[in-house]
Parts: sequence; C-alpha cells; structure tokens
Amino acid sequence: VKSYEFIQTTEPRPGVGQITLNRPKALNALSTPLIIELNSALQAFDASPSVSVVVLTGSDRAFAAGADIKEMANLSFSEAYTTSFIESWSYLTTNIKKPIIGAVSGHALGGGCELALMCDVLYCTESANFGQPEIKLGTIPGAGGSQRLTRAIGKSRAMELILTGKGFSGKEAGEWGVAARTFKDYDELMEAALKTAETIAGHSKVAIRAAKEVVNKSQDLPLRDGVEYERRVFHSLFGSEDQKVGMKAFAEKKKPEWTHQ
Ligand code: CAA
Repeated sequence: VKSYEFIQTTEPRPGVGQITLNRPKALNALSTPLIIELNSALQAFDASPSVSVVVLTGSDRAFAAGADIKEMANLSFSEAYTTSFIESWSYLTTNIKKPIIGAVSGHALGGGCELALMCDVLYCTESANFGQPEIKLGTIPGAGGSQRLTRAIGKSRAMELILTGKGFSGKEAGEWGVAARTFKDYDELMEAALKTAETIAGHSKVAIRAAKEVVNKSQDLPLRDGVEYERRVFHSLFGSEDQKVGMKAFAEKKKPEWTHQ
C-alpha cells in the first residue's frame, strides 16, 4: 500500500479498500494535491485484483469542508476555464468501475457534499453536517451539487438550500433519501460501511460491475432507454461463468464459488 500525504489507504476487510481523507488541520478541505492523491488511490484500488469495493471516509469531525477556499480565492476566470478547474473531481464517477461507499461524519460542505453525492452508496451519522454554502462565498456549487442534490431531493428543497447556503443534517439526509442509512456515531457508521462493503465483495465481480453500471445509467438515460440498456447487459451476463455458477449453486442448495469470469 502506497503512502500519501493527505489521505490514507488500507484494506481493512477481504475485498475492501478504504480511503480516509486525512488533512485534519483544514478539515479535509479538498486541495488540488489532495484530489490528485484521491484519484491515484481510487485508480489503484480499481485496478487491484484484491479489492472489489471502496469505502471513502473522512474523520469523525469532517468528511470534507469543501474545496480549498484559500487555494482558489485568487483564481482568475481564464485560469479556471483553461485548466478545467474541478473537472478532475469527477474522476470518481467517470472512471471508477467498482462500487464506492461514502461514509460521512461531521462536515460535508460544498465540494465535500458534492463528493459524498458522487458515491454509489452513502451512509452518514445522524449529526453529519451537509450543505452547499458556496452562495455565502459569492459563488455557486461547482462539482455537480446543483445537479446531483436536485436529483436526490427535488427542486424546491435543493433550491432553498443552495440559495440560502443553509445546511442539512445527516438525519435529514436519511429521511430525504440522500443517504441510504444513518448511524448514531462514527464507530457504528464505519462498522456498517465496512460490513456492507464486505457483503458486496462476496458477490461475483462481473455481476457487481454490471449492477453498478446499469444503476448509474438510470441517472442519465430516459426510462425506456435505461430499461433497454439494462436488458442488454442482463442478456450479456448469460455469457459469464458466474451466472452458471450462481444458478447451479442455488439449485443444489450450495454456496456459490465464484470464478469472477
Ligand atoms: N478551505 C480551506 N480551509 C478550510 C476550509 C476550506 N473549505 N474549511 C475549513 N478550513 C480551515 C479553516 O480555515 C481553519 O484553518 P486555520 O486553523 O488555519 O484558521 C481550519 O480549517 C479549521 O476550521 P474552523 O476554525 O473554521 O473550524 P470550525 O469548527 O470553527 O468551523 C466549518 C467548521 C463550519 C466547516 C468552517 O470551517 C467553514 O465554514 N468552512 C468552509 C465551508 C465552506 O464554505 N465550504 C465550501 C467551499 S467552496 C466549494 O466547495 C466550491 C465547490 O463547489 C467545489
């Protein structure tokens, strides 16, 4: 496992890779060097045969307090535009094929909230502090917040949050369906996130990859096209060994021994 300055990576359970954002002095503010390390760690886990699922977390106090305000304060339009500032943050959604479970405790603000929204499954503590406070800095969300938050919670709630800059709690995130489940404290959160990751990692790698791919298509395609896309991928899985292994094991009342082929 490589060593990084602003993140930590471990493999805490079979098939599970964990990335912990670790820039405590700045509440894990997402500076360019941190994002470069995050993308590198994601790429390494995505390529690693020993990892099937990634858990992304921060600390008890902060998942991430947003883009690094001090780093971008003096950025000009032409610099931001010509370097495609923040585009590389979407690496997580555009390039990573393995499921990512986000485990959020404490602040998840601005880019931190957006990073959480990019995760495939989101768990959080009830007291987590989500929000898109960019309006208070004279700007707007820049890493997909206006789009993903709106899809997740509806236009009226998203508009209210983005225009006022007010936050929402982890409890609300659970009630609104932003988070799949909520937990009392960081320890419970991490235990559940790792357990779910381990459960997923116990399935066929081929099926896991296909499942993530088709669910994510639902975010981009009209329903009819999405259903057709799903059916095509479903048909293609009859060409995998693991479909035969899984269905044969069911008929024989045995545990499937996946070949991951
Ligand atoms: N960027 C840079 N530094 C940050 C930061 C950020 N987003 N958030 C916190 N920090 C730094 C603080 O400057 C402080 O550093 P110093 O000790 O050197 O002063 C340190 O982290 C601890 O922060 P606080 O003392 O402020 O801690 P607190 O507990 O009093 O408050 C907080 C916590 C409410 C999260 C507060 O830090 C805060 O409001 N942070 C900014 C949140 C924000 O506006 N995020 C959006 C950024 S814009 C964005 O993300 C754009 C986009 O869409 C991609």
